[in-house]
Amino acid sequence: MALVIAQLGQPVLRAVAAPLVPEEIGSAEVQQLIDEMLQTLGAERGAGLAAPQVFVGRRLFLARVEPPREDDLLRGVEVFINPRLTASGEPNAGWEGCLSFPELAVLVERPRRVRVEYLDRHGEPRALELEDMPARVVQHENDHLDGVLTIDRAASPRDIVKASELETVLRSRAPGG
Ligand code: NI
Repeated sequence: MALVIAQLGQPVLRAVAAPLVPEEIGSAEVQQLIDEMLQTLGAERGAGLAAPQVFVGRRLFLARVEPPREDDLLRGVEVFINPRLTASGEPNAGWEGCLSFPELAVLVERPRRVRVEYLDRHGEPRALELEDMPARVVQHENDHLDGVLTIDRAASPRDIVKASELETVLRSRAPGG
């Protein structure tokens, strides 16, 4: 069953989420939450989804780390529990959307690379080195665990636009445009 996604203004999006205890990761409750978050992400065709976005204040998110395949849209989506991020590399600006305010696109600068240490859905410790789009998605989702949203990270209020106007914005900002 797809879950209801908390929309901008819901206090849960501004709270700091609590870690999961390793012993509870295998519980039916947590496993069902993960399954329902995966279904929700697939239904929304999103790149990531954090537990606070489905009204659960725990340190858990999904992020796409590999491109989808037509026959399996959820392939390449990883489950991150109690993640610890180490970002590196030069800052890189990119437009981001968010399922909690899909009407907006926000230009956000983030380090180009990130190393993430986490527990997978079986409670096994894992580490991934990511760059570019997957590194951006993981940093965006990790921000949700700290109550931080893209709109907080915009360098200027002018970097917050209606998603429907993004093409217009890109044209108007293009060099020589
Ligand atoms: Ni988001």
